[in-house]
Amino acid sequence: MIELKKISKTFKGHKVLEDFDLKINRGESMVIIGCSGAGKSVLLKHMIGLMRPDVGSVSIEGTDITQVDNKRLNKIRMDFGMLFQGAALFDSLNVLENVAFQLFEYTNKPLAEIEGRVAECLKMVGLENIETVKPAELSGGMKKRVGLARAICMSPKIILFDEPTTGIDPVMGGVINKLIRHLHNILKTTSVTVTHDMTSAYEIADRIAMLYDKRIIEIGTPEEIKNSRNSIVRQFISGDPEGPLTNAARRV
Ligand SMILES: Nc1ncnc2c1ncn2[C@@H]1O[C@H](COP(=O)(O)OP(=O)(O)O)[C@@H](O)[C@H]1O
Ligand SMILES: [Mg+2]
Repeated sequence: MIELKKISKTFKGHKVLEDFDLKINRGESMVIIGCSGAGKSVLLKHMIGLMRPDVGSVSIEGTDITQVDNKRLNKIRMDFGMLFQGAALFDSLNVLENVAFQLFEYTNKPLAEIEGRVAECLKMVGLENIETVKPAELSGGMKKRVGLARAICMSPKIILFDEPTTGIDPVMGGVINKLIRHLHNILKTTSVTVTHDMTSAYEIADRIAMLYDKRIIEIGTPEEIKNSRNSIVRQFISGDPEGPLTNAARRV
């Protein structure tokens, strides 16, 4: 479904991805873990065509999106839903306008139909009758849920989640994790979640891939990752303050 091949990306002399390969199967829930600044958000932006690699290809269902014009790219993007880091709701728009943003922008559906779809999406994330509320009046967990409702509103084939549990309390984090896995199951989407939260990774993933030093250094089922023999993976998943990750950080 998604295949990144031999990708390299450098920002002002700082190499973030190099010779990077990753393949995500149709219908799977892939979780990408890695330290802050490792390049997780950059990776998601490559998948949805918001960033282009310096070298390499990004194929979505067999189409290399690094080679298509903007019109084609916009069309392919319609297959994607994305929950941005921090939900990224528009503060001046109410919940209805936020969730239905793409419906208003890209379709001519009558208002009653749009309202119906929004109510349906809000219900799927456990919210009701908040259409006229502005984001400033919502709690952190509710904002994430509204962001989730927006991500699923256009019935995407692929959903990307950037740090879905960062900045909310562990209980609400647990609710969001369950919701992401539930939506993945019922909507039968291909999902990619990036996070540094291992509770979230184990809850959401069919497979987990660890991004470190510009590449995927390990990939496998949650069980396989828990039993990894790679010292970097082991330190990351256990949160051990001592180990190769901290030694590498001390050197820079
Ligand atoms: N648009 C950009 N311009 C310059 N540098 C960027 C840009 N986006 C990301 N970076 C750099 O790329 C690296 C990876 O960033 P990011 O993908 O946001 O990390 P994270 O894994 O925390 O999501 C960071 O060093 C960041 O400063
Ligand atoms: Mg990020």
